Amino acid sequence: MKVIVGNEEAISRLIAEEFIQTIHAKPHAVLGFATGTSPLKVYADLIQANQEGKVTFQGCSSFNLDEYVGLEGSHAQSYRYFMNKNLFDHIDINKDKTHVLLGVGDYQSYMSHYDEMIEKAGGIDIQILGIGSDGHIAFNEPGTSFDSLTHETELAPSTIKDNSRLFHDISEVPTRAVTMGLKSIMNARKIVLIATGKNKAKAIYGLLKGPVSEAMPCSILRNHPDVTIYVDEEAYSLIR
Ligand code: GLP
Repeated sequence: MKVIVGNEEAISRLIAEEFIQTIHAKPHAVLGFATGTSPLKVYADLIQANQEGKVTFQGCSSFNLDEYVGLEGSHAQSYRYFMNKNLFDHIDINKDKTHVLLGVGDYQSYMSHYDEMIEKAGGIDIQILGIGSDGHIAFNEPGTSFDSLTHETELAPSTIKDNSRLFHDISEVPTRAVTMGLKSIMNARKIVLIATGKNKAKAIYGLLKGPVSEAMPCSILRNHPDVTIYVDEEAYSLIR
């Protein structure tokens, strides 16, 4: 596992570059995207690179990690809305080839086919991850099986609290979500994780130094052959 420490701008640029190189090597690459505040600068860099003609997403398809149960794709806090607004609306990707788990309607049936859809598309070539303050990746909370595939889950109280900053009131935060499982994530060929800020320091410590345990979901990444962890000084502060 590689660890790169730098300020948010620098690490975001490096991650965007990893995506661009993956696409240059394989124009039909399957891209794994994440939501949250952490990848926003990476997406801004990808938009800029696309608009400057340095990369095209025309051949790519994508799969997102997770979605809140109960939110329509048109809801401002849904992850489909987030991806359209922060990336897909501004690049030349074919939106029909962008996949985000559904949170309403027949979402359970869609969820049950998700890993198969990823496999049929050829498997994820590069997956970006954020990390929760409790060490969750996607919405795999502490205690989730390392063998999990895409499933429905209940959010930890700390995650509901963390994510409430994006809602008007904590009572509006959904308590359930659908998420790629830990095994689904480990199936990606290459994984890049970004973490910035003090709030992530404990999780980064658990990821790099703690035991590999289902109590710390991100620790599973230590078993993956191609992971790079991009952190700023604050997220790395318990390691130094
Ligand atoms: C949510 C998402 C995760 C994300 C985490 C951290 O819980 N499901 O995929 O990694 O938030 O978000 P942020 O980057 O905003 O700190």
